[in-house]
Amino acid sequence: MLQLELFPRMELNSLSDFQRLENNRLSLEDRRRLSHHLSFFQTPKPSDVIRRQHSHLVDKILGFRIRYVEEMLVAEARGFDPDGSHETWGPALHQGVQTWVGLDIQTLQTPYSECLRILQLLKLKPYQHIVDLGAAYGRMGIVVGGLYLKNSFTGFEYVKARVDEGNRIYHELGFSRSELIEKDLFHSSFELPEADIYFLYDYGQVEHIERTLKQIEKIALKRPVKVVVRGKFTRRIINNRYPWLELRYEGKLEEEFCIFTAYIV
Ligand SMILES: C[S@@+](CC[C@H](N)C(=O)[O-])C[C@H]1O[C@@H](n2cnc3c(N)ncnc32)[C@H](O)[C@@H]1O
Repeated sequence: MLQLELFPRMELNSLSDFQRLENNRLSLEDRRRLSHHLSFFQTPKPSDVIRRQHSHLVDKILGFRIRYVEEMLVAEARGFDPDGSHETWGPALHQGVQTWVGLDIQTLQTPYSECLRILQLLKLKPYQHIVDLGAAYGRMGIVVGGLYLKNSFTGFEYVKARVDEGNRIYHELGFSRSELIEKDLFHSSFELPEADIYFLYDYGQVEHIERTLKQIEKIALKRPVKVVVRGKFTRRIINNRYPWLELRYEGKLEEEFCIFTAYIV
């Protein structure tokens, strides 16, 4: 067994360091300890391939059973739509909602190192609350739970199996300020709660994203908000139709996100 009392003296500089951690059966205490170290969430190299592999290893080290959950969803979806693909399985299984069942797992979620970079750029103040709209397994909540001890996170997600798995890991790690909630963001009863930061990564169809942006607009009439947008789709919608969102950070090099602010007075 690896001696994690040596951590943080143990360096996490390359993927092989993470592979070594993954190959050792870490105790829950070791996993908890790792989750509080910045370097655990930093990618060894800033390339897309390494960033994804790093995230894959972090998932495994933390004990996520994402492949299993997603394979179960695909198997269920094939029953409805045997010749389908990640474009059609989600809607077939989830009443028309695009839940991206069958999509590559590392494409479905934002890499941990990018979650970290976003949180660093946001320069969070104590007690600020972050909401992820379409959170999947809640990676952002893992980084908040481990490193931002004075902040809290809520992720809304349609797929119950993802919500349960994310909450299972939050619970194991003792992250009481991070929570995933099973919700359909597009349901008429869904009321967007007030938060300081909203994170949106191309979660649904155009009309879904439009509805969410209108809900954020209502909140921005009352208080300042920041909106982190990942994916070209949502960004294009904002550029074309939501001038009240002011672009503050455009992303550099391979970064796939940008940050907007709004306070409509
Ligand atoms: C592209 S993933 C992004 C996951 C996460 N935000 C991240 O960046 O790692 C979008 C997620 O939104 C969820 N989603 C899509 N439509 C939704 C809806 N109407 N209500 C709640 N979640 C939804 C999908 O199931 C999927 O897990």
